[in-house]
Amino acid sequence: MSNPQQLGGTFTFPNTTITVHRMGYGAMQLAGPGIFGPPKDRPEAVRVLREAVAAGVNHIDTCDYYGPHITNQVIREALHPYPAGLTLVTKVGGRRGPQGSWHAATSPAELVSAVHDNLRNLSLDALDVVNMRFFGEGHGPGDGPVEEQITTLAKLQDQGLIRHLGVSNVTSKQIQQARDLAPIVCVQNHYNLVQRHDDALIHELAADGIAYVPFFPLGGFTPLQSATLSAVAAELNATPMQVALAWLLHRSPNILLIPGTSSVQHLRENLAAAQLALPTEILARLNALD
Ligand SMILES: NC(=O)c1ccc[n+]([C@@H]2O[C@H](COP(=O)([O-])OP(=O)(O)OC[C@H]3O[C@@H](n4cnc5c(N)ncnc54)[C@H](OP(=O)(O)O)[C@@H]3O)[C@@H](O)[C@H]2O)c1
Repeated sequence: MSNPQQLGGTFTFPNTTITVHRMGYGAMQLAGPGIFGPPKDRPEAVRVLREAVAAGVNHIDTCDYYGPHITNQVIREALHPYPAGLTLVTKVGGRRGPQGSWHAATSPAELVSAVHDNLRNLSLDALDVVNMRFFGEGHGPGDGPVEEQITTLAKLQDQGLIRHLGVSNVTSKQIQQARDLAPIVCVQNHYNLVQRHDDALIHELAADGIAYVPFFPLGGFTPLQSATLSAVAAELNATPMQVALAWLLHRSPNILLIPGTSSVQHLRENLAAAQLALPTEILARLNALD
């Protein structure tokens, strides 16, 4: 593994042999507008993926309902046969309507079908990590039951189609219920500089060595904007997005980053954030943003 410090150091998923750099890449932005249809610039999408891996990124987050199917197909085009040590993390639990709307798809039959979609479109015999994405209220988690979904995925794990399981958009209670049914190696929830509902949860997971992978680390569809963030970035001769990512890396050692971008220029900027030091006084100002 080359230059681990350049990419924020490393993290090993609990009770696995999977070690990744803490700075990874999220592939959602590679599909078309609204994460629907083909990329606006497919050669650039392929370049982003290849440059990420060439720079040492070995954790890529994806999903077969981005596009749908297209993001995984672009990953396959860019990176297959996959280099040793690359971990592809995907998720199931959603589907897209004909115009791009997002819907839950969490029945056992839908989950089995989604796992096979991922295997086919990524050209894999087994998926490294599959996150079970739950749908709650609005964009956040609910507290609904998890047993049917986790049991279904655990069966696919027993069949060798999935190596490890994670959960996404979940509460602390749902995580505990999932962990009572199967080993969970990561949690993927909405979290960033100004969205900190999971502060206590991150500590709980860190104590058990479970990865916390924030989605929307840069604010998602509306990237973060704040006068303090801009001022701090200017003082550090960095960009606001770099400061937001550096803050997350500093926040807890079990946080893994998967910032999304469709541009090589933004990718380079984001990866460089792993080398940005945040002095104590600046951290205090950023912490006060919540
Ligand atoms: N589990 C879930 O439910 C869930 C939900 C959402 C996302 N995710 C995962 O989380 C990953 C990250 O989330 P995300 O991509 O939605 O949101 P994000 O990483 O917070 O932000 C992506 C947005 O920021 C822009 N951006 C990226 N780097 C930038 C830079 N250096 N300067 C300015 N703008 C920049 C991107 O536009 P450009 O393309 O122009 O750079 C895009 O609009 C996704 O790729 C996906 O894998 C999971």
